[in-house]
Formats: sequence, C-alpha cells, structure tokens
Amino acid sequence: MREGTPKAIRLEDYRPPVYWVDRVALAFDLDADTTRVQARLEVRRNPASSDPNDLILNGEDLELQRIRLDGRPLEPARYRLEADRLILPGVPERFTLETEVLIHPAANARLEGLYLSEGMLCTQCEAEGFRRITYFPDRPDVMARYRVTLKADKTRYPVLLANGNLLDEGMLDDGRHFAVWEDPFPKPSYLFALVAGRLEKRTDTFTTMSGREVLLELYVESHDLDKCDHALDSLKRAMAWDERKYGREYDLDRYMIVAVSHFNMGAMENKGLNLFNSQCVLARPETATDDDFERVLAVVGHEYFHNWTGNRITLRDWFQLSLKEGLTVFREQQFCADEASKAVRRIEDVNLLRTRQFPEDEGPLAHPVRPDSYIEINNFYTMTVYEKGAEVVRMLCTLLGWERFRKGMDLYFERHDGQAVTCEDFLKAMEDANGVDLSQFLRWYTQAGTPRLEVACHYDAKARTFQLNINQWCPPTPGQPEKEPFLIPVTVVLLDPEGREIPLQLAGEAAPQGSERVLALSEAHHAFRFVNVERPPVLSILRDFSAPVKLMLDRPLDQWHFLWRHDTDPFNRWDAGQTLISQVLLAQIDRNAAVLDPHLVEGFAPLLQQPLADRAYTALLLQLPEEDYLAEQMDVIDVDGIHRVRETARRELAAALRDDWLSCYHAHHRPEEWADTSAAAIGRRRLKNTCLSYLASLDDPASHDLALQQYRTARCMSDQLAALRAIVCDAHPAKTETLADFYDRWRHEPLVIDKWFALQAADPSSGALERVRKLLAHPDFDLKNPNRVRAVLGVFARQNPVHFHARDGSGYQLLADWLLNLDRINPQVAARLAQPLTAWRRYDPQRARRMHQALERLRQADISKDLFEIVTKALEG
Ligand code: TRP
Ligand code: ZN
Repeated sequence: MREGTPKAIRLEDYRPPVYWVDRVALAFDLDADTTRVQARLEVRRNPASSDPNDLILNGEDLELQRIRLDGRPLEPARYRLEADRLILPGVPERFTLETEVLIHPAANARLEGLYLSEGMLCTQCEAEGFRRITYFPDRPDVMARYRVTLKADKTRYPVLLANGNLLDEGMLDDGRHFAVWEDPFPKPSYLFALVAGRLEKRTDTFTTMSGREVLLELYVESHDLDKCDHALDSLKRAMAWDERKYGREYDLDRYMIVAVSHFNMGAMENKGLNLFNSQCVLARPETATDDDFERVLAVVGHEYFHNWTGNRITLRDWFQLSLKEGLTVFREQQFCADEASKAVRRIEDVNLLRTRQFPEDEGPLAHPVRPDSYIEINNFYTMTVYEKGAEVVRMLCTLLGWERFRKGMDLYFERHDGQAVTCEDFLKAMEDANGVDLSQFLRWYTQAGTPRLEVACHYDAKARTFQLNINQWCPPTPGQPEKEPFLIPVTVVLLDPEGREIPLQLAGEAAPQGSERVLALSEAHHAFRFVNVERPPVLSILRDFSAPVKLMLDRPLDQWHFLWRHDTDPFNRWDAGQTLISQVLLAQIDRNAAVLDPHLVEGFAPLLQQPLADRAYTALLLQLPEEDYLAEQMDVIDVDGIHRVRETARRELAAALRDDWLSCYHAHHRPEEWADTSAAAIGRRRLKNTCLSYLASLDDPASHDLALQQYRTARCMSDQLAALRAIVCDAHPAKTETLADFYDRWRHEPLVIDKWFALQAADPSSGALERVRKLLAHPDFDLKNPNRVRAVLGVFARQNPVHFHARDGSGYQLLADWLLNLDRINPQVAARLAQPLTAWRRYDPQRARRMHQALERLRQADISKDLFEIVTKALEG
C-alpha cells in the first residue's frame, strides 16, 4: 500500500501567483550522470495577490547546493526545504534569487525533466517537469523571459540547443564548449526545452507572409537523415496554412525540431524547439506506412499551431488544458482535411472519438472537457480533453459559421496575446466579436457525459409536412447526477427518393431557404415542422457529425441502405453504412446465427465495381465497423460474439464478391508508385490493401499466394506491412518464416521493429497470451522505451480484445504484472496503459470480477500517484 492518499487539486482553489518571475537565467553544466543547474530568478511581488508573502517554489528530486538572495548566501533559518517544495517566508517585494542544484539525467526513467535518450540529453517539462530541473513556481500563469547557458563535453554533445535565438557559442577548457540561447518571448516553464547530443541536421527555409526568412532545422541521429524530408515539407505546409487560414505568422528566426527515441507522448510544442517522438517525425516510404506519413503531417502541424494556440496565448492553470489542446486539435484537423481528403480525415476523427472518447465518457474516468479536480495532471491528457475538446470548438464554428468564428479567433489573438487565460476568455472573445450569448455553450466545458439525441420523424402526405421531434438528455457521470441541456448544433438535410436535397422551409417561413440547416437545440425537447414537402423524404441528420452525441433514431434498414448509397454528405454516407452493418451484426450476435445479409453485398458490390474518385474514402466505405465500435453499442460487451460475427461477415463478403475484390485489387496495384505519397497514390494503396485483407480471410492457396507475392515484392512499408498483416492474422502457411524474415530485414530500424511487435501483439489467433509473453521476453523488448511498451502491452490490451479479455482473467493478470514493473520506471505511461482495465463494469460478471481483482491488486501495491488515481477512480467511480 502506498503511504497516505495523494490529495486532489481543485479548480475552485485557484489563487493568482503571489510572486511573478520576470526573468530567468539558467546555466547548465551538462553531464549524463550529474548535471549542475544554476538558476537566477528576478522575482517581483504580484500586487493583485493578497496572500501572505511567502515565496513557494516547486522542486522534486533536486539536490540543493547553494541558495542566495540578492547576492548573499541565505541562512538555513530563512528557508524551508520540503520533499517537493522550497519555501522562503517573508521575502522582499522585489529580489533576485539564485539556486544551484544537482540532478541525475541518466537515472531518470520517468522521461520528465532532464533525461537521457540514446546518448542525447533532452527535456520534457509539460506538465510539471520543470520542477525536476530547478526550483521554480512551476505553473503556467507565471511567464518569464529565459536566457540559457549550456556547457558540455564537445565530443559527446557537439550540438547544444535551447529555446529562442543563439546569442553566443565557443570553446571552454578540457574539450568542453558552450552555447547561450535567449528566448525573447515570455513563456511558462512547461515550454522550456534544451537538447544536447551528437546530432545531425537537415535544414530548409520558409519565407513568412511579411517576407521574413525563417530557418527550419530538423535534428536527428545520423542514420535517420534519410527520413527527414516529409517532416520538413509538412512544417512548411503548416506554416503556409496558418497564414492563409488564420492570418498567423511565425515569430522567431529559427524553428527547430528534434527527434527523440524515448518519449512519453507524440510531441511537444516547446517554444522554437519542438521535441518529437521519433515515430511522429521520421518517415520515408521504405520504413513508414501511409498512415505514418499522415500522422507526421498531423503532429508537425499540431505542434506548429500551438505556437499561437498554447504558446503566445497560454493557460492560466492546468484545468484549462483543452483551451490549448482542443483548439489545436481542431486546427490540426482543419489543416489535414485541407491538405488531403476532407471526408477521410473527418471519418477518422469521428471513429476515434466514438471508439475511445465515448467509452471514457461512459466509464469511471468520465470528466468534463474542463475537469474540476485532479490528483495527477498527466492523467488528464485524455481523449475528452483533446478529441471532445476539438469537437466543442468545431461546434462553435458550426454554430457561428466560419467567417464569424474567424472573427472571434482574431479577437482572441488580439486581446490575449502574451497572456495566460481561461476557457471563459475564449468564449468571451467569440461572444464579443459576434454579439452573441454563449453562456449555455459553456456547459460543454463543465458537464461530462455524451448527450443522447432521440429523433423521431413523421411525414404527413396530405399536409405535405415533415415533422421532426428531437429530445436530448445526458446520462449521469461521476459527481454529476443531473445535467442541464446543452446547446447542440444539428445539421439536417431532407433527401427526395432520387437522393436530391429538398429546399427547406420551416412552418412560419415565407419561402424555402437553402437545403441544409443547422438547427440549434437549446432545450430538452424541440419540434420542427418542415412544410411544402411534396414526397416522403429521407432525413440526413447530424451531417458531418455536427455534435459529439449519440444519435438514437429507429428506422428501417432500407433507409440506412438508401443513405449509404445516396447521402450527399460524405461523412453521413459512410456512417449510414456503419449503422446498417452494425445493426445487422449486432442482431446476429443475439441470434447466434450468421447468414450474410443481402444489404451488405448490395452495398459493397457497386463500390468495388465503380470506386468513387476518392479511393481512400472508398476504402473506408468498404470497412466493417470496428470491434470497439460494436462493443460501444452493447449493454454487456460480448467480445467473442463481436469478433465471431465480424470475422464471419468479412469472410462471407470476401467469398460472395471474390472476383470483384480481385479485380479491384489488380486495378489499383501499382508497384511502381511505391515512393509516391500523394493523396491519390495513398488512396489507391488503401483500396488495394483493403481488397487484400478481405481476400486473405478466404484462407485458400490463391489468396495465400497473393499476400506472399505482395510481401516479397513490396518496396514501400505500406504494402509490405499490409501483406504481412494478411499473413499473420489469417493463418497463412508461411506465417512463421515471414515474420522471421521481416525481423531480419528491419532489425536495425526500431520504428519498424515496433510494428513487428505490435502486429504480433494484435494477432487474434489462439495462443496469443504465450506469444505476448515471448514478445515481452524478447531481447529487443525494453520497458524503458514507451514506444516498445505500447507496441506490446498497449496493443495487446486494446487491439486484441478476444485474448486480453480471456475469460480466465489471464490477460488482465499479465497486464497487471507488467504495470507493476513499469510503474516503478515510468508512472505516466503505466497509468495510461492501465486504462483498459477501468471499463470492468461493461463486461459480464465473470470478466468484471477478474478485472476488478487485477485493479485491486494494483491498489494494494506501492504504486505511483499517477496509477493510484486511475485505479482508485476505476474501483470507486
Ligand atoms: N502538449 C503536447 C501536445 O499535445 C502533449 C504533451 C503533454 C506531452 N505532456 C507531454 C508530450 C509529455 C510529451 C510528453 O502537443
Ligand atoms: Zn497539443
């Protein structure tokens, strides 16, 4: 058992800082074992605070060597050193504080603060890592100007980087050198960064809209120099897009990105010096898939967009996290939609929301987009804060329209540049720019839970009216038994029997106005009556997924089928297919029978015979709903049933349309395009590999040959991995030797080896637990590398439901065993990987009991506060 219960931090307890820090000078004597950090803070009393004049600095795992106030050593009686704080009672109104501490980067496996990765020293300060580097008021509303001096051995650390501009560099004695960096923009401590290592770089330039030339630098290990082009290209595209779309220009003369192998998350937006998980920045067609290429574009864009939404305008406190993350994810989504296929990106975003955020909202960890309490802030980098937060911003844009939304953004930038603000400040800018009242909209930030929309409609042929009734309600979530109605934008269209949009006229309107409407729901119940509707229409509702809600709309399968063929909104067209197929499959689980529904064949055949111009979109239209999505729709999740009916449907569709799959495969197989990563070539590969995955399920010599042939001849990772997946997941006779071949070929490319681990961890065939045990014992498995850990434990727990949820509880036990090991090394990652266990209430009593036991075991152990928060909330919630 851990000692004492960690205490919760509450939004309502927010107090403005008692002291500001205007300037910080840091000097690092860098060394992997022991680094000396000298800090000089210019401190000033905050006149707006009436709290006692103690200066409280955060600090964890620091060895204090010296402390001086206004140049004089401070006697021990004048300060108090606690485990995680340094307190100086009764300090002056304005003074200079100097401290010197020792820290130990090589022993830092948490990957927060200063740590070592492949011989490189680097930092991660968000959210509260800066306090592991020096004593400081480590909170985002204290913004300071930083000047940083780095000193290190020149052979081991020839490159020395920090935020901002390089002021000076040169040699010191005994083979050491130094660099001085200064960041002219005041920033919170979480955006501080430094890097020291033996790195090579690729560079480029970007000329901003006002004609300034910006130097772009991507730092990597020398063997990765061949994987930099795409990230640099993505960065230039992001910079140009933010100028075009939002009028936002970059503000420093240099933009640096560093690729890091050991990284807790995707990437980090440190001012002028982004640090990236190598997975999210390195890509070339031989080693990275098309999905990886798209991920790099998205993450590079995301971190770049933070420069305005996060850095120039930052957070008052960590409860406001979605103010930067939700908004930046929304901007990233718009960017990627503009750069490739709008429909595809929207479908992927909604899929992620529905398969990952909706379950979060239904479970014990449910929290509002702006949480009101936390134990460990690292646990709140969630699907709700990021993905639902982005949906909330998107709804504002839908309600206001792009022009007015943009006016609100302009005012937000103008009014709050250089400040640390709140979600209310953001909404206020939107209100003031447009003269609207958004007070009800704030509930999206404060109320957790996924609202339900119950929709009923009725066509009256005589009166030629179409009546639409909508009820909204939201189930209770932990700590929030009752909910007030949300302001919900619902986009609708009525289609005539030929699939054409009907001009819309509501009762009381003089004439029809357009064919698409955004209905703004503000009450628990609304009734809309459309008039002059000549023929029975089909309703297309919640177009482009206009709100993060669950739609409850009962209608005959034929109507979903009609929309699957005819809906004019590409998202809704895809979603109609998903609804139709889900209903068919879920009914089959209940009946325990699996006869292929003719609707499916009728829906798939024309897409294969005449794919749409957007091939990647066509591939999505041919995808069966994910197991997670089906699970989300069951009261008690039947993992085996879901897997069984979905696999059966896949096989039967493959058999029924065999010739179509095959000819579509051949029509889109263009091996010569292997290095082409244009949207069109990616689309062809996606469609072709979708065909391959259906064909592989046939498990006959012809499809085995096809997969093996593609594996052997593939020159790009997309084709090679798709073939390997077909071979691994469908009991191919050459499975073992092909896996061995892949490993031999790529043993020196860790990012590819991650894929090799992940593919096997997700393999649903029998004996999975043993295979996962073997992977965990493999010499290349490394508990200190989060990418590797996620590739095995993360993928097993999330992407291999049949075996992770084995009825005897063996999957849960294995996860719990490893979480205990991992928690001692990296609590942040351990807490994240524990989350699949928290959904125990969604399973049958036997599984639920086993999951509960695994959680109980964790709670009884001596665990970090990160893991403690997840485990206790899961058990209580
Ligand atoms: N701010 C980062 C982003 O979303 C995410 C982040 C938070 C992070 N904490 C981190 C990244 C810790 C790496 C490590 O862009
Ligand atoms: Zn972010």
